[in-house]
Order: sequence, then structure tokens, then C-alpha cells
Amino acid sequence: MINHNSSEQVTLFSTDTISEASTGDSASDGVELVSFRELVPEINDTGYLTHAIFAYPAKFIPQIVRYAINTYTKEGNWIVDPFAGSGTVGVEAYLCQRNAFLLDLNLLLNHIMPLKVYSGKERLHETDLYKLLEGMKDSKHQFTPTWSNVDYWYASEILEVLSHYWGFVNNTDSGIYSSVIKSALLKVSKRFSYTEDRTPKLARSKRKLKAIEKLLKENWKEQLDEMIHSLSLKTLKSLNDFVMYTQQHQNKVTSEIHWQGGVDSSYTTVPQVCDALITSPPYLQAQEYIRSTKMELFWLGHTEEEIRELSRFEIPYRKADRVIQTETLDKIRKMLTRDDLRKRLDSYFCHTINALENAMHQLKPNAAACIFVGNPRIDGITVELWRILTEYFTERGFVFEKVYEDRIQTRKLFGARKNKNPDGMKSEFLLILRKGATDQTFARQCEPAPGGKERPLRAPKKSPDSDAS
Ligand SMILES: C[S@@+](CC[C@H](N)C(=O)[O-])C[C@H]1O[C@@H](n2cnc3c(N)ncnc32)[C@H](O)[C@@H]1O
Repeated sequence: MINHNSSEQVTLFSTDTISEASTGDSASDGVELVSFRELVPEINDTGYLTHAIFAYPAKFIPQIVRYAINTYTKEGNWIVDPFAGSGTVGVEAYLCQRNAFLLDLNLLLNHIMPLKVYSGKERLHETDLYKLLEGMKDSKHQFTPTWSNVDYWYASEILEVLSHYWGFVNNTDSGIYSSVIKSALLKVSKRFSYTEDRTPKLARSKRKLKAIEKLLKENWKEQLDEMIHSLSLKTLKSLNDFVMYTQQHQNKVTSEIHWQGGVDSSYTTVPQVCDALITSPPYLQAQEYIRSTKMELFWLGHTEEEIRELSRFEIPYRKADRVIQTETLDKIRKMLTRDDLRKRLDSYFCHTINALENAMHQLKPNAAACIFVGNPRIDGITVELWRILTEYFTERGFVFEKVYEDRIQTRKLFGARKNKNPDGMKSEFLLILRKGATDQTFARQCEPAPGGKERPLRAPKKSPDSDAS
């Protein structure tokens, strides 16, 4: 998503002249105006249970996922999400006794999921957490990220303390308690750095430099400890609520949630036959998820090389290896005058559709594909994503069922920042496609890009039944 508040954001998509490139009139198109928040009144807090433990750009609101699960799946079904991000689909699937298979390019998924779908049966104890936090203050261990310009992002005295704290959690095998503290350390490491922690991208700002300078003249160490303490406690409480909820609601059915962060879904075969797809692809606009979460990835022990390699596969920052053609997309392509925008458009549709196609290939006959998209603009032209996807997939064995249109309210895009109208979009859409009754599936796009490298799927990292540390 475009960050309209950040001076760093390159605005590729102007909003001066607005024209529609659609093929028909919405009212007769199977578009139903809804409010997912109203359709799912049982969820009245988007951050309930474990949903809010990690901040992530452009997260699903859980109401959309819950609605899709209730309407298009049954207990025990398998759901696939090839753009899992922070795992909202995994959490909702677990809470609704469904199984899920989650993929994402971002390695954060592997760190997020053990906490968000914590499968412990017993309540966690505050006293155990406090003991660990006390031990951390005297840590002799040290861990500094292998990040060549880490010093650029921190005042030296703060970096020293954080290195000891991270050294402690990395060397203390206290299972889920260590993970709880790590989740707090991630937030604190960002808050006490020079980056603007309320915007997604890493950006050293004058405002933040001043704030840290001021902090260093105060009792900054106590403030830092206090923040780790209260965030850890908050996470512990969320986990306990999650344990209570799942103990009360999950009778005989146990969900299996598998995840694999660090894979390129455009060239990954989903190994599991599924009953539904529920996903939200990256936006057409420049949201760099890997770059936005770089600081977290470094602290979690990932290397510069790993992060650079992953960024190369991010949609839409790579070359298209085929040109997707549909009636609406072709019209837009013709209307575009800028070559760079045409390339961006081609890249976006090529890789997004490759990833969807890989996952949708594994759907059973009659299964629903629920795809949540916006209506972004490119050079003033509205790109009706749901219509383009419909045109593409109805040629390939899917039937258009309906589109839910949800008018965008003020929405949290990242952390505390609110944005009334992301990307100039007024609505978001949940497109429902239904796979044909006979398995007349399309050819999968799993061949590597010319000169490109296939990224085979490795075994899923962990399921909630394994140790969650
Ligand atoms: C809109 S976000 C999904 C957010 C998710 N629904 C949630 O609730 O957290 C889109 C995701 O697509 C991922 N992505 C971008 N390029 C990808 C690729 N080539 N393969 C797999 N995932 C990719 C990004 O890392 C990002 O997490």
C-alpha cells in the first residue's frame, strides 16, 4: 500500500484523472454491498485473542476471514492461503476447527505462528515470566544482528542493552516464555531505534533522532524495561485467553495449521489438496513487506544475504515472465502511457496469478476461492482487480459466484497509524469463484521463470502441536 504520510514513498500512481476500465455495471454484476464487521458481530475487536501480538502491514480484519470460513467451509476442511502475511487465516482456521496451509515470502511467518496458534493446554504463569525478565536484566550473553549498518539505526548505549537482552532470550530455552519475550523485544527494538516506528518502511527521521536524544537524557533504561515488561505481560494474557477459548470451544476436533515462510508462492506447488482458498494478495502499489520488516528479521537472526534474496521475489518488484491477458486488463494496458507502469502492471498480474493458480489448482471440485482485493488506481485508471481475476479464472474451469463490496472505514494499516482511504480506494472486495464440478483444471504455472530459479517447497516448518519455542 502507498504510505501517503511518508516522504520516502515514491508515488507511482497519480490520482488526477480518474477513468474506469470496467466492462459493465456493478449492480447487475453480482456485487453485494456488505459490512463484514456487521456480518460477524461475534468479533467486536479486530485484535482479539492473539491477532494483535504482531504488527503487520495490510492485515486482514478477522471478520472477513471468519465470514468466508463460516460461509464456504465446514469443520475439518483444509484452507490454503498463499499470501499468509501474519497468519490471520491460520488463527481463524484454528479457532473454527479448520486446517490451514499457509505460505508467504516473508520469513516472519515462521516466528509469528507458534505464538498466534499456541497449542498449549495449560495457562501460562506470570511469575515464570517475571523470573525470566529479571534474569534478562543481568544477561552476560550478547547477540548483535549480522547487519552491516546496525550502528546507523541505534544509539550505542541502547544497542548494547538490546544485544544483551536478545543474547539472553536466544540462549535461554524457556519455550513459549522466551517467544513471548521475543515478541515484546521486537517492538521495543523498533521503538528504541532511530526508525520511524509508526510507519512501515525503515526510515531514520529527524523527529525520531530528537526523540531518542531526549530519551537518553532521561531514565531511558527503566522506560525500556517497563515497555518489555508490559508488552510481554500483554502477550502472555492474549495466549491465556487463547488457551481458555480453545479449551472451551474445541471439543474433539484438533486443527492442523502448517506454515512455510520464506517461499515464493508464484513458483511453489501446494502439496495439500484443499477445500477452500482464502487469501489477500499484495496490493498493486508499492508495499515492500520484506523491507518493512527488515529490522525484525535481523533481530530474529536472519542474514543480509537471506533478506536480499527474498526481496528479489517480492510482488510486484520483479520481471514478468508471461503477459496475462483479459478483456479488462488489455484495456488498461492500452490506456497506460508510461512504460514503467505497464511493466509494473504486467509483473503484478503475472506473479499474483501464478501464485493463485498454484494454490487453486489444488482445490477440490466445487471448492470456493475467496480472494480479498482492492480497486487500486494506476495513472488515474481504476484497476478492478476482482473483475480481471474473474475474467482470467472463468476461462480456466472456475465459475464466478459473487463479489462482496465492503466500504473502507478508517483502518489501521500499521501500528498506531490510521489511514482513512488507503491508495485512494473507497471499497474492498471479496471475490468468490467456485471451481467447476469436474476437475477440468488449468495448467499450473510452476515452471521457473526463464533464467529464474525454482524454489521448491520444503516440508512445513512447524505445526502447533510441535514445541512452540
Ligand atoms: C496483503 S499481505 C497479506 C496479509 C495477510 N492476509 C494478513 O492478514 O496478515 C500480502 C502478502 O504477500 C506476500 N508476498 C509478496 N510477494 C510474495 C511472493 N512472491 N510469494 C509469497 N508471498 C508474497 C507479502 O510478504 C505479504 O505478506
